[in-house]
Amino acid sequence: MAFYSFLLHQLLFRMDAETAHQLILSCLSHHRLLSLIEKCFFRTTPPGGPTISLFGLQFRNPVGLAAGMDKNGVALVSWEKLGFGFVEVGTITAYPQSGNPRPRLFRFPELEALVNRMGFNNEGAKKIALRMERLRRSGSWPSIPIGINIGKSRLTAPHLAHDDYLRSFQYLYPYGDYFVLNVSSPNTPGLRALQNAEHLTRIISTLRDWEGSHKPLLIKIDPDLSSKEIVSIVKLAEREHVAGLIATNTTLDHSSLPPERNEAGGLSGKPLQARSDTIIRRIRRVSSIPIIGTGGILSAGGAHAKFSSGANLIQIYTGFVYRGPALIQEILRAYPYLCDPHRLSA
Ligand SMILES: Cc1cc2nc3c(=O)[nH]c(=O)nc-3n(C[C@H](O)[C@H](O)[C@H](O)COP(=O)(O)O)c2cc1C
Repeated sequence: MAFYSFLLHQLLFRMDAETAHQLILSCLSHHRLLSLIEKCFFRTTPPGGPTISLFGLQFRNPVGLAAGMDKNGVALVSWEKLGFGFVEVGTITAYPQSGNPRPRLFRFPELEALVNRMGFNNEGAKKIALRMERLRRSGSWPSIPIGINIGKSRLTAPHLAHDDYLRSFQYLYPYGDYFVLNVSSPNTPGLRALQNAEHLTRIISTLRDWEGSHKPLLIKIDPDLSSKEIVSIVKLAEREHVAGLIATNTTLDHSSLPPERNEAGGLSGKPLQARSDTIIRRIRRVSSIPIIGTGGILSAGGAHAKFSSGANLIQIYTGFVYRGPALIQEILRAYPYLCDPHRLSA
């Protein structure tokens, strides 16, 4: 782990944030290289042992990789080796898109925060499905649950969003253990409006009606919703038998950032934690729906706050950027009871 810290501070943090991200991903995409590093530095979660049972899936541990880190599913094998209990690929759109112009990812190390306006840069559902098919045929498919997060292509009009989500869903269906409807990223114009009841119901029923699809569907919500909006999404999710909610995506509230360095985009990391925990508690007050809690987990304490607010599983992104894989082990070591299925099963 000291090796990762050394790299992190000496090398990665001297680079532009997106270049560092690409470098790490390209290393992790060579999972044979990782196997070598793993032998020397990392302690991964052994297969077997107690599992957490949620929406019909078994999770070896409750710490997942949040969407956005591996948008194209290039490093699936490595995430498992690093100790994650599950991985969410994406956001993937029906059509390939390059996203917003660079620079579009900004670090705020003193706040343990990031701002991004990536704009769903990804290779598109068809190409990513082919990559996953190749991995499956190679016999190296990971044994942890793989979630696939899908979003609306930028060029698709909001009233056609359901067809756009369906197209991605059809290509990717064989490879996801669960699917997430991302209707909460702030960097695709109009996307958050799809959180309204009419749009969401239409998207969910379109996906459900497709050849009797039965895999768990989750909705990822934004942290800037009002209490009333949260409750109406929860009620809709229950009515439509949605498997769970992911709370939350990044926030547009930048009040914690120094004004002279402010950048447009979604804010993640430590400044998001309290808001995300509040949203989870709000959901839990009105429903027992499974919740994957994400937003500002940078320590075992942050993970504990998510579970005590009512999350069943957690995901990390910004914490992984600042702390590396040590964070996964820190969470699992500090809270061994998190692996107790009786505490976490919904
Ligand atoms: C650079 C970056 C890109 C992201 N891309 C996506 C994405 O494509 N889809 C998505 O649902 N969430 C995306 N997210 C949001 C994360 O999945 C997560 O919900 C959010 O960052 C809060 O968790 P954190 O504080 O641990 O980062 C992104 C976050 C970051 C920092």
